[in-house]
Amino acid sequence: MNNFAKFKKEVERKISKRELIIGVVGLGYVGLPIAVEYAFKGFLTYGFDIDERKITKLKRAENYIEDIDNDKLIKVIESKTLFATTDFANLRNCDAIFICVPTPFTANKDPDISHILTATEKIKENLRFGQMIILKSTTFPGTTEKFVLPILQDSKYKVSKDFFLSFSPERIDPGNKIWNTTNTPIVLGGINNEDTEICSLVHNIIVERVVPVSRPAIAEMEKLLENIFRSVNIALVNELAQLCDRIGINVWEVIYSASTKPFGFMPFYPGPGIGGHCILIDPYYLAWMAKEFDFVTKFIQLAAEINEDMPYYVKNMIIREIAKIGVPLAKTKVLFLGMAFKKDVSDLRHSPALKVAELLLNEGLGEVDYYDPYIPQISVNGKLVFSRKKLTKSMLKSYDIVVITTDHSVFDYKLIADNSRIIIDTRNALKDILDKRDNIILLGEGK
Ligand SMILES: NC(=O)c1ccc[n+]([C@@H]2O[C@H](COP(=O)([O-])OP(=O)(O)OC[C@H]3O[C@@H](n4cnc5c(N)ncnc54)[C@H](O)[C@@H]3O)[C@@H](O)[C@H]2O)c1
Repeated sequence: MNNFAKFKKEVERKISKRELIIGVVGLGYVGLPIAVEYAFKGFLTYGFDIDERKITKLKRAENYIEDIDNDKLIKVIESKTLFATTDFANLRNCDAIFICVPTPFTANKDPDISHILTATEKIKENLRFGQMIILKSTTFPGTTEKFVLPILQDSKYKVSKDFFLSFSPERIDPGNKIWNTTNTPIVLGGINNEDTEICSLVHNIIVERVVPVSRPAIAEMEKLLENIFRSVNIALVNELAQLCDRIGINVWEVIYSASTKPFGFMPFYPGPGIGGHCILIDPYYLAWMAKEFDFVTKFIQLAAEINEDMPYYVKNMIIREIAKIGVPLAKTKVLFLGMAFKKDVSDLRHSPALKVAELLLNEGLGEVDYYDPYIPQISVNGKLVFSRKKLTKSMLKSYDIVVITTDHSVFDYKLIADNSRIIIDTRNALKDILDKRDNIILLGEGK
């Protein structure tokens, strides 16, 4: 039996005895669910983060990610199967390490992989024989091979022999009640076949299906394709919504009817713009990388531009309605419903609702308030604004305009439709309220 075969057998033994020790670096939307899943399956799991507040919360078994079951989290913390820490020296105890740190862009929209590099440095400082490292953060093709591997190889250990490295992008969709960490297949590409094989084995503990690919770069590019596919299709319907507004056709009815075609069509919906940590950012990661190869991703960038223009488009819709009611801009009160970047989550990152609010205030709007049960406070243009505690008839009536920016399921849409003077619905959230159409201005309807 060769060395790899022996090592694999030992990993299989550790898995079957639940002796494999897991490390997860970065305990956010991606990392914490992974850590909880391993711990819940009985594997001792170290969760690492540089954010002391998150570690303190976890030590108290306080959940900060909506999709994670509270009881599950309490169970793994109290049983000490999940150990949250800022002490990266514990990385040495881990057999398999997942890197789940953010990959934002800079002010100029260039990729910022500094969190990946810092996390990799910490792993290198604690590297030991037999460790399996899986990068999960979304990034441009080549990151694993050209940036992560050289840091780790710099040590006395050699890849595919002494340690194993792979890239496996995360597909979690916060707020999705059907597809979760376990039942969503994942793609995994190792530096060599040994890396793919052994890292897949480890990932298979919590994921039903691992799809192996030939290189990390395939998996890196595959993830960008998934997200850019969404960006491009959302841009298409956002453009169509603007055209429909101009010619007076209801874009939502167009999309619903087109989606009756059972093949060759997939519905996407317009809105006030895209946000979050993925779809908005990923096109820029690819565009940046393409430049190195004298290639301009024209189509992809155009889609990103159309999507990023939507908050400006919605701001103009609101200003137009304010002009119609004849109240001076500086005296107009607007209430935003939903500030998160998408429904049923508390994620505010790059939220288009926030952008629209900022644009309106820059134009001189008198007052912006919001109601979002998931987000207690926000900062608009450096000023703190607090979520209204409750939606009431009198409160809704006190605003000149109510804007539905995020269509959270918990909103009482009948109450909103019955008691708001003017509603700008950017999500078609009021589609089932047919008797109050006069005071509803729907994005993409052309009224
Ligand atoms: N949120 C999603 O829905 C989603 C889905 C698929 C992929 N992704 C990708 O996964 C990655 C992580 O995204 P997220 O949404 O979980 O981000 P997040 O901001 O929710 O969590 C990242 C965590 O990493 C921590 N961190 C930063 N630098 C660190 C370091 N050097 N060491 C340890 N911890 C560190 C942060 O404090 C934070 O808690 C990103 O690349 C993102 O594009 C996100």
